[in-house]
Amino acid sequence: MTRYTNIAIALHWIIALLVMVNIAIAIGSEDLSREARGPCMDAHKAIGITIFLLAAARIGWWFRHRPPALPDTMARWQRAIAKGTHFLFYALMLGLPLSGWLWMSTYPAPFSWFGLVDVPMLPVVGQEGLGELLHEAHEIMGKAMIALVALHLLAALKHLLVDDDDLMHRMLPGDSS
Ligand code: HEM
Repeated sequence: MTRYTNIAIALHWIIALLVMVNIAIAIGSEDLSREARGPCMDAHKAIGITIFLLAAARIGWWFRHRPPALPDTMARWQRAIAKGTHFLFYALMLGLPLSGWLWMSTYPAPFSWFGLVDVPMLPVVGQEGLGELLHEAHEIMGKAMIALVALHLLAALKHLLVDDDDLMHRMLPGDSS
């Protein structure tokens, strides 16, 4: 196998878009008034839960459809960094939304999924100390996610423009090269 499956490709681009939108909402709404920020954070939470569910689906898919091997032209250290980055992405795609969800559950501060479904609160209600820790963890993981996205984008661009290898095409829809 030389390419990712269509399902893996679809999940990759949908999750990538949602993660970037969610980071933009969180950072872009930071200086807004409390009233104006409310709806932004409602969307942030709903998108975050969506990412959590899609990431779980992606991981389930990974077990049955392993990614194609990295090319031999890549140095060992490059392959190690690529694999480490991908692992960290999975950890953050689950850990980041889960920390936000758990944190909101400590108050509790119920929220809905785009006004359609009430998201259940997790069983940590009233645990203030844990809430502070989760707040901190969410911010640290948010920054780690931003750094990882930047690293990933730079690496993808290098493969496309400098190495001119096949890596980018393996993740593009409908591209059989
Ligand atoms: C993958 C999904 C998510 C990403 C990428 C993400 C990313 C971020 C980032 C980058 C920040 C700004 C942190 C900072 O101040 O440095 C933030 C803040 C925040 N996030 Fe998330 N988040 C996600 C999911 C969630 C979920 C599921 C919830 C709650 C259910 C949530 C609740 C919050 C809240 C309330 C803040 C505001 C923090 C504050 O007021 O300082 N997030 N998020």
